[in-house]
Amino acid sequence: MKKSALVLTTVAALLGTALAGAGVVVYSGIYDISATSQHLQPVYSLLETTMHQSVRWRARNITTPPLDDAQRLARGGALFRDHCVQCHGAPGVAQADIGKSMQPVPGPLVDALQRWRPREIYWITRHGIKMSGMPAWQFRLDEEALWDVAAFVQALPTLSPQAYAQATQSAVVTPRVVEAASRRTGDVDRGRLALGQYACQACHTIPGITSSSPNVGPPLQGLASRNLIAGKLANTPDNLVHWIRQPKTVKPLTAMPDMGVSEGDARDMAAYLATLQ
Ligand code: HEC
Ligand code: HEC
Repeated sequence: MKKSALVLTTVAALLGTALAGAGVVVYSGIYDISATSQHLQPVYSLLETTMHQSVRWRARNITTPPLDDAQRLARGGALFRDHCVQCHGAPGVAQADIGKSMQPVPGPLVDALQRWRPREIYWITRHGIKMSGMPAWQFRLDEEALWDVAAFVQALPTLSPQAYAQATQSAVVTPRVVEAASRRTGDVDRGRLALGQYACQACHTIPGITSSSPNVGPPLQGLASRNLIAGKLANTPDNLVHWIRQPKTVKPLTAMPDMGVSEGDARDMAAYLATLQ
């Protein structure tokens, strides 16, 4: 046998063995997927390093606004109490049950500043962390609110349990969701992102959005060429926005819930759905 043929056969044999091995792991059920079986420490460390490097790289060009203003910290404290404590806990406050039993377990963030720059904390809060349960907040909190929370996380190490309790006494802050009511044309790319972030793919199979192909609501493939929305409304952009935001005002008994979609986000979703011929 020629040398090159030998090399090729060996590479093919190795590849074949690797694929067969992967096939056994995937299809035999041998891998323990339960949240009670932990990753081995080296695997966990490898995943964590990958996550750190990814955040560092993506946040590198973000400019940090001034973070030490008292009003910002007060707003950040209230937002942290309302949106983060359940999973992360705080000085003197344990996580709720959901946070305690997640894998990976969400840390108390009191030491976050040792690992992250403020712009990285902002990035993580805005985009979330895939496959970990850390949600992306960009469709719930506007830019200022995201920085308010990042500022508060930055200040956490200086807070005693008493100071934390005091710092989070402010009334509920309603984040100023960037309303794009005046913006009449939706943004297709942002709409695709928004569909995934409002859990629409939990019920609908939507081309371009990764899901388990659910059948709870009708598939949205071909929506643009339908005459009616939900068999009721003429299929116009304004009607689609109306349906997405308030389906029960169109059909009181519909199983489609009100998902709390803002006007601007609904317009973006409608723009994406209009591309589904
Ligand atoms: C549903 C639970 C949940 C909520 C709510 C939540 N997080 Fe997280 N968070 C996680 C998980 C899980 C991780 C990943 C932990 C890991 O990989 O080590 C995480 C990681 C983080 C990290 C990186 C931590 C580190 O030390 O590496 C930051 C920063 C963070 N979250 C900030 C926030 C902020 C700010 C809020 C509120 C706006 C928030 N989180 C709300 C679950 C949550
Ligand atoms: C809990 C499940 C559920 C979720 C989540 C959900 N929907 Fe629906 N959706 C339905 C059901 C059920 C219908 C059929 C309603 C009817 O005809 O009464 C429907 C109908 C629709 C229709 C009309 C489809 C057609 O063929 O006429 C559109 C468009 C739509 N949903 C968009 C969305 C968007 C966008 C979101 C996310 C903001 C979303 N849905 C979230 C269950 C859901």
